[in-house]
Amino acid sequence: MRRIGVLTSGGDAPGMNAGIRAVVRAALDNGWEVFGVRQGYAGLIAGDLVRLGARDVGGIIQNGGTIIGSARCPDFKTEEGRARALRVLRDREIDGLVVIGGGGSQTGAYLLSQAGFPVVGVASTIDNDLYGSEITIGVDTALNVALEAIDRLKVTASSHRRAFLVEVMGRDRGYLALMAGIAGGAEAIVIPEVETDPEQVAGELRAAYERGKPHAIVVVAEGARFNAQGMSAYFWEHKERLGFELRVTTLGHVQRGGAPGAFDRLLATRMGFAAVRKLAEKEWGTLVGLLKGEIRATPLAKVNANIKPLDLSLLEMARVLAM
Ligand code: ADP
Ligand code: F6P
Repeated sequence: MRRIGVLTSGGDAPGMNAGIRAVVRAALDNGWEVFGVRQGYAGLIAGDLVRLGARDVGGIIQNGGTIIGSARCPDFKTEEGRARALRVLRDREIDGLVVIGGGGSQTGAYLLSQAGFPVVGVASTIDNDLYGSEITIGVDTALNVALEAIDRLKVTASSHRRAFLVEVMGRDRGYLALMAGIAGGAEAIVIPEVETDPEQVAGELRAAYERGKPHAIVVVAEGARFNAQGMSAYFWEHKERLGFELRVTTLGHVQRGGAPGAFDRLLATRMGFAAVRKLAEKEWGTLVGLLKGEIRATPLAKVNANIKPLDLSLLEMARVLAM
C-alpha cells in the first residue's frame, strides 16, 4: 500500500476531524501518501480529491464537522455510481480507503470491498445505531449538547410549573432520546422501539405534577410515531380535557454541530489510527469500533447483516427513577 484515501460520509459527527487527523498522520508514518475525498461518496464519484499532509490536519482535533466535507450521495447506491468511483480510485492509483461514517456509509464501504477494493470503515454517527461498535464517534458530544438544552429547559419549566417536550435526533432509533432522557432526569421518554400512547405520557406528566414536581419534561426521539409534531398536535387537540399545555423544543441539527469533547476526540483518534493499521495488516472489508473497551475490527458483512440492540430495561429504570 502506497497511497490511501479517506472520506467522511452521511451526517457529520463531532470527532470526525480527530479521525481524519489520526488516519492522515498514521498513514504518513507508514510512508504512505494520503488523499482526502471531498463530500463523501459524491467526491469519490466526481474525483474531487485533495492531498493531505501532516500540517493540513493540524489545529482541527478540537473542531466539530469535517474539514473534507460530507454528503448524502444517492448515486453511490447505484452500480453505475460505484463503478465510476472505482474508476477514480484506480486512475488516481489509490490502494486503500478509510470510510468514516454511519450505517449507510458502511453499506457503501461493504459494497466497495465486495467489488475487490481494500476498505476499512470507522464507526461514526451521532445515532449510535451501528453494529460493531458499542458507541460511535459523535454520540457523547451530541448527548452533552442535548443535556445542556434539557437542563436549561428544566430551569424555565420549574419557574412556570410547565410541561416541556424536547425532541432529539436519532433517525429511526431511540438511543439518543433514551440516554438524554435518563441523564437529563426526564419524567417521560418516548422512543421508536416502544409504541407509546400520548395518553400514557399525559398521565406520567400529570402524576409528576401531583407528586409535587415543579416541572415535567418528556424527551422524544424524532423517529417515534408521536414525535414533537405528533405529540404536540395530540396535546393541542385535547388540551381542555388534559388540563395542561405542552411547550415544544426540537433540538435538530444543533446536536450535530458541537465541538467534540474528550471522549469523542479520543475515540476517533484511536479508531482512525487502528483503521490504518488494519489497512496495513490486510484486514480489509472490516469496521473498526469500540467493543468491551478495546478497538476491534468486525467484518463489514456482519455489520450490515445485524441490527444493534437497544437495552430497553433502561426505559424501566428511567421510569422508576423519575419518582
Ligand atoms: P449514515 O452513513 O450516517 O448512516 P446515510 O444512510 O445517509 O448516512 O448514508 C450515507 C451515504 O452512504 C449515502 O448517501 C450513500 O452515498 C451511501 N449509502 C447508503 N446506503 C447505501 C447503500 N445501500 N448502498 C450503497 N451506498 C449507500
Ligand atoms: O444520522 C445522523 C442524523 O443527524 C440523524 O439523527 C437525522 O435523522 C439525520 O442525520 C438528519 O439528516 P440531514 O442532516 O440530512 O437532515
